[in-house]
Amino acid sequence: MNKRTYNFYPGPATLPTEVLEQAQSELLNWQNKGISVMEISHRSKEYIELAMKAEQDLRDLLNIPTNYKVLFMQGGAHLQFSCTALNLLDKNQSSDYVVTGIWSQKALKEAQKIAKANVIFDGSKYNFTDIGDVSNWQLNSDAGYVHYCSNETVGGLQLRELPNVGDVPLVCDMSSDILSRPIDISKFGLIYAGAQKNMGPSGITVVIVREDLLTRSANTNIPSMLNYNTYAGSDSMYNTPPTFAWYLLGLVLKWLKKQGGLSEIAKLNYSKQQMLYDYIDNSNFYSNKITHKYRSYMNVPFYLKDENLNQQFIDGANKRGLLGLKGHRLVGGMRASIYNAITIEAMQKLIEYMQEFAKENN
Ligand SMILES: Cc1ncc(COP(=O)(O)O)c(C=O)c1O
Repeated sequence: MNKRTYNFYPGPATLPTEVLEQAQSELLNWQNKGISVMEISHRSKEYIELAMKAEQDLRDLLNIPTNYKVLFMQGGAHLQFSCTALNLLDKNQSSDYVVTGIWSQKALKEAQKIAKANVIFDGSKYNFTDIGDVSNWQLNSDAGYVHYCSNETVGGLQLRELPNVGDVPLVCDMSSDILSRPIDISKFGLIYAGAQKNMGPSGITVVIVREDLLTRSANTNIPSMLNYNTYAGSDSMYNTPPTFAWYLLGLVLKWLKKQGGLSEIAKLNYSKQQMLYDYIDNSNFYSNKITHKYRSYMNVPFYLKDENLNQQFIDGANKRGLLGLKGHRLVGGMRASIYNAITIEAMQKLIEYMQEFAKENN
């Protein structure tokens, strides 16, 4: 195969072709050294430059204030489910959790292994299709933090407005919508995100944390690799970081800057989701169950009128080079993940196929 397919996988997800081409072109001979970037010490001057440049590009793109640290960790968002509770709570302090889907539910369960975690909104009563009125959350003013997930990748539900939680630090799992639009970092205590949707390959996780919150775990005996201070105090190089993933993340950030940054990518993402939801809403063959206000711009689940046709839909899509459309096993149906690197052309191909499939099977 000499042509790229249209990749709608939820993560690991499609990467910009230019990024892969650059990685390919310098794989054997990075910076004219006759070695790949994977084969050089993370303590070398060249690698440290690369790592710092990636951090600076992330800071530029997200406009990260200087009183925030950027940490590069491993263990995915799953490890952050534990790290947040381990690092951000004082003794006997509890946390507040907003449960809007499978991922925030998982985060809650892990946090409950460490300390008391209150559920201040439970979206299971809406079958995770709605969030209702955010101002109704029963916040606890003495909580160590409030945790939510800005985009539920499986359910396809996104909270784009920033919740107002007063002085309690707001903690967000932004794994599947970070870098998809501009956000005001200063409204958050901590943001974490696995890279494998909008930032790069799996294996590296970004944590953006307000510096004053680091004092909470500064003198505790949390294992070093789970303590944010370890990363903050060593430029995330206490141990050997995932060097290749960090390098690729850097290339994706450079690509994003070239696209015009987050305001430009947000416009593109807006158009992409609008094309797809408009088509779904105007068809009598496909449907999406999420309350319009909370529909995800990144992950679009949809259902066929006749669920018995699901496999046929997937097979036909695969034949046309439209990959990764099967919905998550817990919710069924289909899901198109349309992250930053998905092009308008990919959206057109998907909608064309959906139209033809509906015509043939309606
Ligand atoms: C919103 C969200 N949170 C957490 C995770 C878990 O990430 P990881 O597998 O990197 O731990 C995912 C993975 O898809 C996700 O989409």
